[in-house]
This record gives sequence, C-alpha cells and structure tokens, in this order.
Amino acid sequence: MSVLVTGGAGFIGSVVVDQLRVRGERVVVLDDLSRGHRDQLDADVPLYQAPVGDAATVRRIIDEHSVDTCIHFAGLIAVGESVKNPGLYWRRNVGESIILFETLADADVENVVFSSSAAVYGDPIELPIREDHPRKPTSPYGNTKMVMELVLEDLSAASPLRAVSLRYFNAAGATDRRRERHDPETHLIPLALRAAANGTPMKIFGTDYPTPDGTAIRDYIHVSDLGAAHLLAIEYLRCGEPTTAVNLGVGHGASVREVIATAESVTGIQINVEEMPRRAGDPAELVAAADTARMVLGWTPEITALADIIASAWHWEQRP
Ligand code: UFG
Repeated sequence: MSVLVTGGAGFIGSVVVDQLRVRGERVVVLDDLSRGHRDQLDADVPLYQAPVGDAATVRRIIDEHSVDTCIHFAGLIAVGESVKNPGLYWRRNVGESIILFETLADADVENVVFSSSAAVYGDPIELPIREDHPRKPTSPYGNTKMVMELVLEDLSAASPLRAVSLRYFNAAGATDRRRERHDPETHLIPLALRAAANGTPMKIFGTDYPTPDGTAIRDYIHVSDLGAAHLLAIEYLRCGEPTTAVNLGVGHGASVREVIATAESVTGIQINVEEMPRRAGDPAELVAAADTARMVLGWTPEITALADIIASAWHWEQRP
C-alpha cells in the first residue's frame, strides 16, 4: 500500500513526505511543479509531473502503486492572489481537485487527508475559532477550500471514501531538510527574515485593525507539528473513523508587529517597515481552538514558541 501525496514538492508536502518515509510508509508524489521544487524531494521518491486534474495519470498511479490513502496538498495558497485572479483559484483548487477526488472514489481509495484552511471561517464571530464556527470565507481562496470540504462531505455520504479536512492556521518555520520557498513569496515570516537579511524595508498590511496594536493576528504553527497531524489523520482514517474537519493551530496568536519584533530579536537585526493599507481579503484575527486535534487525533504541537518557529526558518537563511 502507498500514500499518494499531491503537492509533495511544496513546502508542507515535502515535510510530510519525509515524515511518512521515516515511518516506513511507501510514498508516491503527484506534482506539476508549477509552484513546487523537484529538489525538495529525495531522488528515490517516485514523482509524476502532472496536474491533479489529470484523471488518467491519477488512475495509473493508484494502480501502479496500490494507493490506499491520498494527502491532497496541491493547490494555490495566496489570499491576495486569489482576490486578483479568482478564476485561476476556482479552476485549480476546485475544478482539478474534484476530478482528483472522483478518481480516488471510483478507484476505491477510501482515505483522504485534505489541506483545508482557517480561511474557511472568514471574519470570526467567536475566538478562539472552533470547528463548528460557521464557514463564511472572505476571499476566493477561502471559498475554494470551503467548497472542497463540502465536496468531500458529499462524496463521503455516497461512497466508502472518508476524509479529514485539516484546517491549517499559519504554517511557518523549517525542518533540518526543508524550508518555505514560495515564488513569489507572500508570507509574513519569510518576508520579515528576508528584510532582516537584505536590509530592505518590509510592508505591514493594515495598522487599523481592531487588535491591541492595530495589526492582524494569526496563529503560527511549526511545519513539523503540522506535518505530524497528517500522519495521525491517516491512522484515524485507517481505523475506519468518519469524515471530519480539524483545526491545526497552537491556540494562541501573534500580531504582525509582534512577529516582526520577534524576528528582530531572533536575528539581532532591526527590520525597517513601511505601513500600508490592509490587504484585501485578510481577516483581523485568526486563532484556533486546538482541542479537537488533541482529542480526535491525539496531536500535541511541540514547537509552540514563536521565537523557536522563527529561529528554525532563520537558521536556513544563515546556511552558506
Ligand atoms: N503581512 C504583512 N506583510 C507582508 C506579508 C503579510 O503585513 O509582507 C500580513 C498579512 O496581511 C496578514 C499576516 O501578515 O495579516 C499573515 O499573512 P501571511 O501572508 O503570512 O498569511 P495569511 O494569514 O494571509 O495566509 C496563510 C496561508 C493561507 C491560510 C491562512 C490561514 O497562506 O493559506 O494563513 O490563516 F489560509
């Protein structure tokens, strides 16, 4: 039996491929390399370079590798880009993902772990955000993740397929082997570290949010803790448990200014900032209620201090 990892050449995907292999799982990756990097994967990991909407290739992978489980990471992830180019997000995150999930269901692949997002909640009406909080996204990106959760719920009702939708809060940090490398980079922590390294100013998007320092608050989770939850979700599904959705965050938040201040203390470098208007589609505060992951999956994050998360990414930047 093998685990099919779509988007395995991306940031979180590559970390989870490593973790699966350490645990002795057989892994096969499907990635079109439009955003991922071949060198994020070890050379002996089988890679099929194709879109997830290529049903014939998905079917071939399932047959050739006896796939029993799929982790679906592949997709577009930038809130701002989705506001500017919603059609692209609907086509890639929804159109192609539906073809993937239908192909899995048709081939009797029963276990699906789906990369969902805190963006499904939109502007929270209650904090911290529990999984039963209404889904009301404020961006096309969030809409695409919500719709795919609904598709999985419907497929689960009609077929033996079951799914865990993991609602990521803000993945950050790096492992010894893998780091965040988006092009273009839009995420706060890598941009703060780049600003520290280059001495160039970075932008703060929004200083008039209803938060204590006026900047947006997010729940930053270390990528290796995030990855560990995927392995636990596979165990949950292989035990025959039902379709569900689980938040992945540490349960406390940091503002943009706090992240920059922590990056300054980790690097020992003062970061110059430019204050800008809010970025379209960004909620003021997203912090997870993290107890479902603990209770349902048996998950406990290990690297919860923001300084440790940022330091793990900074060590990479310091490598020759
Ligand atoms: N920000 C800045 N300056 C920057 C970059 C970001 O001020 O140069 C701000 C953003 O406006 C936001 C916060 O920092 O308020 C975090 O922004 P990121 O781009 O790092 O992350 P997002 O919260 O926008 O999105 C991330 C993932 C999404 C996921 C979301 C859930 O990219 O996939 O977390 O919280 F849905």
